[in-house]
Amino acid sequence: MVRLNKYIADCGVCSRRAADKLIMDGAVSVNGKIVKELGVSVDETNDSVIVSGHKVEPVSRYRYIMFNKPKGCVCTVKDEKGRKTIFDYIDIKDVRLYPVGRLDYDTEGLILLTNDGSLAYKLTHPSQDIPKTYIVKVEGTVPENDLATLRNGIELDGIRLHKSKIKFLKMEDEDTLSRFEITIYEGRNRQVRRMFETIGKEVVFLKRVSVGDLKLGGLGRGLWRYLTDKEIELLKTY
Ligand code: URA
Repeated sequence: MVRLNKYIADCGVCSRRAADKLIMDGAVSVNGKIVKELGVSVDETNDSVIVSGHKVEPVSRYRYIMFNKPKGCVCTVKDEKGRKTIFDYIDIKDVRLYPVGRLDYDTEGLILLTNDGSLAYKLTHPSQDIPKTYIVKVEGTVPENDLATLRNGIELDGIRLHKSKIKFLKMEDEDTLSRFEITIYEGRNRQVRRMFETIGKEVVFLKRVSVGDLKLGGLGRGLWRYLTDKEIELLKTY
C-alpha cells in the first residue's frame, strides 16, 4: 500500500503537494469513488486511480530494448582484450542495462537488454526452453542424414539437446553456400556453431532473427529500439 499522493506523483502526474490539492479539489477517484481526504492509501497493483478523468499508472523503472548486434563485438560491459562491446552502440547511460543471454563475437542479430533482473533471470533459466531462431550459412551442401542427426538432438557438454528445427532455405553465392533456418531451445555457448562442427561443417555466417515471439524485423545492424508494451507483455508470459 502507498499513500495516494505519492502514488499520483510516482505516476509522473505532478508533485505530492500538487496531488494533495487535486485530491482536495475532488479531481481524484479510487475504484470509481471520489476521495477528498488526504492520507488515504491505495494498493498499487489492484486499485484503479483516476485523476481528472484519466487513469494513471506508475512509470516503469524498467527499460527493455532490442539490439541488432553486428558481428565483431562482445556482449559484455568491458572486454579484457579491448574489443568493441555492444555498449559502444547503445547510447543509454542513465541506467545500467544487462544483456539477456549472449551472442558470440562473430554472431549478429537480436539481443535483448534490460535492467529488469528478475525477467532476465527467468528468460535465461535453462528450464525455460525459449525458441531462438537463427539464419545459418555453411559452405557446400549438407546431406539429409546429417541434418536429421542435428534435428534429433545431439549431445553437447554432456547433455542431450532438445530436438531442433532446421529448414533448408536456398543455395547462395553461386551455389557455394547453403542457407538454413534453425530453431534451438537452449542457449549453450556457441551452440549452433558447435552443432554444425559435429557434422564437419564450419558456420560462416550466423544471425539470430527471433527470440520467442520477438522478431528482429527491419531493425538495422548496430541499431536498438525500445520494446513495445505488447512485446514486454509477451516476454512476461514466459
Ligand atoms: N550459437 C552460436 O554458435 N553462437 C551464438 O552466438 C548463438 C548461438
